[in-house]
Amino acid sequence: SLRRASNVHWQALEVTTEAHSRLKGHRPAVVWFTGLSGAGKSTIANRTEQRLHSLGVHTVLLDGDNVRHGLNRDLGFTEADRVENIRRVAETARLMADAGLVVLVSFISPFRAERALARERAGEGRFCEVFVDTSIEQAEARDVKGLYAKARRGELPNFTGVDSPYEPPLAPEIRIDTSITGPQEAADLVVSQLRAQGVLP
Ligand code: PPS
Repeated sequence: SLRRASNVHWQALEVTTEAHSRLKGHRPAVVWFTGLSGAGKSTIANRTEQRLHSLGVHTVLLDGDNVRHGLNRDLGFTEADRVENIRRVAETARLMADAGLVVLVSFISPFRAERALARERAGEGRFCEVFVDTSIEQAEARDVKGLYAKARRGELPNFTGVDSPYEPPLAPEIRIDTSITGPQEAADLVVSQLRAQGVLP
């Protein structure tokens, strides 16, 4: 079909990912934060980026709320739209990782299949899945944006954890139980994991 890339060929780049890595002094990676709305993904991702930045790591942070204002402004919260949202973000993260960056991704990303796709696109050893594990009760009790209340009143259909599913990771590199682990400690766990994976020296 005309929409497919059948007549489009992959263009090899002259400045390779290896060359980018040498310049930056670390390997690229995609650190993928997943969890319910209000679990604390953004807070932990931001704290992690600060930690990495202070260590001299070249980072970029893709956050659901922000990306949905621009690149993915045409997408809503149906299952199909969430699948497309995560597909685009996985591909964007991959492009940024190819440029040598440590890419922090913070989206609910409720479906295992799309997170598996993101892992596959990032490449072996380059993916670190961080499950920001908060119970629906805790997330709803905080309800920082008032969205759970809206969803319960029936004013926000397809809300994750209310009437749209969340599939918890089965084997994440890191699981953060937010009832016992704070953002700073969570950031430390990510840094240790990136060292263990050989991303950071
Ligand atoms: S997804 O499922 O990965 O495509 O979602 P994401 O792009 O991360 O966007 C989640 C943020 O959008 C707000 N919001 C909703 N979340 C879940 N379900 C519904 N129906 C919904 N409508 C709006 C919400 O503020 C989420 O922000 P976070 O930061 O996760 O709380």
